[in-house]
Amino acid sequence: MSGLFITFEGGDGSGKSTQISLLAERLEALGHDVRTFREPGGLEPGDAGERIRDILLDPVHTSLDVRAELLLYEASRAQLVAAHYRPALAEGAIVIGDRYADSSVAYQGYGRDVLPVAEVHELNRIATGGLVPDLTLLLDIEPEAGLGTIAHRGADRLEAAGLPFHERVRAGYLTIAAEDPGRVRLVPRGTVDEVAAAVWAHVEPLLSGARR
Ligand code: TYD
Repeated sequence: MSGLFITFEGGDGSGKSTQISLLAERLEALGHDVRTFREPGGLEPGDAGERIRDILLDPVHTSLDVRAELLLYEASRAQLVAAHYRPALAEGAIVIGDRYADSSVAYQGYGRDVLPVAEVHELNRIATGGLVPDLTLLLDIEPEAGLGTIAHRGADRLEAAGLPFHERVRAGYLTIAAEDPGRVRLVPRGTVDEVAAAVWAHVEPLLSGARR
């Protein structure tokens, strides 16, 4: 028995969390066992994953080395995969990831523009043990629009990295999508309902394999 693994990717402020809640509700209404996770992070305040998240997003850590940063994301990912994604998938659940390995390629690889992207792919493979999503929905948004949406939130460390950084992240995501069209589907910007409809059009055909 193996479930379905769906990830959402996109720039800051691209509306992933809204779309993930809508998709999860829709799948649950059909009787699916849906488990959602957010990267970087854990499940409980204070657990290892949440503590890694606090380090990564705290604007105080301005001098965090890019390799240290990448390895912290990978550590968070390795823990989620081993402790939660694989067991849930083995039970036939639909696992939805709010960010996954592509985020490291886009942000630490293309965005930081210091590390060879191939090295980021390699570390992803090590951290995940080769677990690749069945479907990745890339919510595309111009960085200016995305950062505008979240301006009121008070920028975290990544959000504060500046427009050129976020332009590179977006271009990186588009490259990832172009290189892996079978897995990664580009969802253009639109109203919440339009984006939800586009997401559903990609998810629905995969449901026959998922247990209810
Ligand atoms: P979060 O507040 O969850 O952002 P969002 O709501 O936009 O998803 O913060 C996650 C931040 O971490 C986001 O700026 C992207 C960054 N990030 C990376 O740089 N690399 C990674 O591998 C992951 C998972 C996230």
